[in-house]
Amino acid sequence: MNAVILLGPPGAGKGTVAEVLVDQGCKHISTGQLLRDEIAKGSALGLEAKALIEQGRFVPDETVVGMIRDLLTSSESAGAFLFDGFPRTLVQAEKLGELLGELGGTLKQVVLLDCPNDVIVERLSGRRTCEKCGTVYHVAYNPPAKENVCDADGGCLIQRPDDKADTIRKRLEVYEEQTAPLIDYYEAQNLVVRIDASQSIDAVRAAVVERLG
Ligand code: AP5
Repeated sequence: MNAVILLGPPGAGKGTVAEVLVDQGCKHISTGQLLRDEIAKGSALGLEAKALIEQGRFVPDETVVGMIRDLLTSSESAGAFLFDGFPRTLVQAEKLGELLGELGGTLKQVVLLDCPNDVIVERLSGRRTCEKCGTVYHVAYNPPAKENVCDADGGCLIQRPDDKADTIRKRLEVYEEQTAPLIDYYEAQNLVVRIDASQSIDAVRAAVVERLG
């Protein structure tokens, strides 16, 4: 079992890059999407997550690590597991290392999407997501053919509740405090591949594919 991590601030384009790596056979694991699925189901975990996500805060480490443990121990993947939004704290990084060790897996690379805050705020403010299938658009950089309608399934496009200006600011603060230290953690293991994520969608995707190749 091989694993690749997509690391970077909220809105850097992790989900957008993941789409192209999934086409190449990676199994995409987005903890943000898993949590939004729990919210949609109305589960106890979803209720706990909803309040925290809408405040721009993290869900507790043990909750997220438990979700990843369940998923990895029950999945088989011929290609690599692609983690998007996990790990997000040093505790989560250490737990992932332990879990991969137990399962005979190897962390191959950590792709760091570098992106300045002003670009991030513009991306998150313009993001729209299909309420049915979760496909992600941007009103200016990746618009649907018909305004507010998903190209894939005709679903309605909505703004994520955590993409409001105040919550974006909080998410960026929490990223700096809790997630940015992972860059040094993985650089010490020689695993980090830095990508300039302020480029166009096509340029970022091409750079990631080239560096992972
Ligand atoms: P999560 O869903 O993981 O949110 P995030 O990390 O904040 O990342 P985003 O999904 O907001 O952005 P992205 O980097 O994927 O960018 P995207 O491709 O969409 O997590 C949500 C919440 O869940 C967290 O805040 C936390 O509360 C909780 N959570 C999740 N995981 C957790 C964990 N491990 N531990 C604890 N809590 C956890 O792109 C953004 C926009 O920009 C889109 O509109 C896109 O079209 C556009 N765009 C992308 N790339 C480009 C480009 N190159 N040029 C122009 N536009 C672009």
